[in-house]
Amino acid sequence: MYDVNKLVDKLYEKTTLSKEEWIYLIKNRNDVDKEHLFKLARDRQQEYYGKDVYSRGLIEFSNYCRNNCLYCGIRRDNTNLLRYRLTKDEILECAKEGYRLGYRTIVLQSGEDMHYTDDMICDIVSSIKNLYKDVAITLSIGEKSYESYQKYYDAGADRYLLRHESAVEKHYESLHPKQMSFKGRIKCIKDLKEIGYQVGCGFMVNAPGQKDEYLADEMLFLKEIDPAMVGIGPFIPHKDTPFKNEMAGTLDMTIFLLACIRLSIPSVLLPATTALGTISPIGRELGIKAGANVVMPNLSPVRVRKLYELYDNKICTGDEAAQCIGCLKGRIESVGYNLVSARGDSKNPSYVRR
Ligand code: 5AD
Ligand code: FES
Repeated sequence: MYDVNKLVDKLYEKTTLSKEEWIYLIKNRNDVDKEHLFKLARDRQQEYYGKDVYSRGLIEFSNYCRNNCLYCGIRRDNTNLLRYRLTKDEILECAKEGYRLGYRTIVLQSGEDMHYTDDMICDIVSSIKNLYKDVAITLSIGEKSYESYQKYYDAGADRYLLRHESAVEKHYESLHPKQMSFKGRIKCIKDLKEIGYQVGCGFMVNAPGQKDEYLADEMLFLKEIDPAMVGIGPFIPHKDTPFKNEMAGTLDMTIFLLACIRLSIPSVLLPATTALGTISPIGRELGIKAGANVVMPNLSPVRVRKLYELYDNKICTGDEAAQCIGCLKGRIESVGYNLVSARGDSKNPSYVRR
């Protein structure tokens, strides 16, 4: 019906495809000339970001979570897990170390932990901003009210990561307990955009129940939301979750989708995720060669890293974890890119702080 390589060229030129074209391209991805696709994705990336790959220092400050997502290792019902919380001082200590190492974006991530009040979050955000004026702060702490998001923004938070997890309502519902709603999720993403955050959304590749047709909806959803960032990584089963026996996502599908996202939203910030590095020892390098341009090494204290296991066998949690930045720098240079420490804001003009 279509020629897949013509669809790839059309995507490069027009940055969009119809739903039918997406479905055809995704279903027939094995016939795509991958080298050509990845080359076009790299060209697009370099047009906006040159050979730079941005680093974001990730502080996983609490693994308590009120939610019970069926895929996630820190879900509430996982009692096989030691829970931890970092204090404000411990978080500031991590940020200080991050700044010293050259990070100019700090990502504060946690489960949905009600222990931290809005005032506490604002205090942590503004403290980091006051100490390090040239740092961007990204929050990734889940679903909150419009008012809370506004407070964090006013305290100095620049960006917010909230993966939408699925653009197809019935699929979203199959991944989450019934207390969580698709509409609630989408409202959060729209609120964050309206407030002025650089917003990151995303989903797991080959999440249980994900069909090729749904991936076409993911692509159209992303195009419509026009996020500053898109985080995608393979689903990886975790032994203490209802999805423990489900199949992991594949390297092939993940890098194919990374390239498609780069072509569809040329200015997007696109991480080569830790999950991608977990399913293949060279996953992140291959991600960068398919158009990804962000890495998020861990800045959490080594003693808690093993406890933030969203999925089994997560990399960079052992003794070697303190060297993440050196290791990543070498890996990125090995594929011809530079790891840079700049804030690396989105080049999408609709994301200028008001
Ligand atoms: N495999 C891969 N990614 C996962 N996440 C949560 N659990 C898993 C898993 N088992 C992702 C979710 C979440 C992000 C922080 O990590 O998409 O939004
Ligand atoms: Fe963490 Fe390589 S990125 S050890």
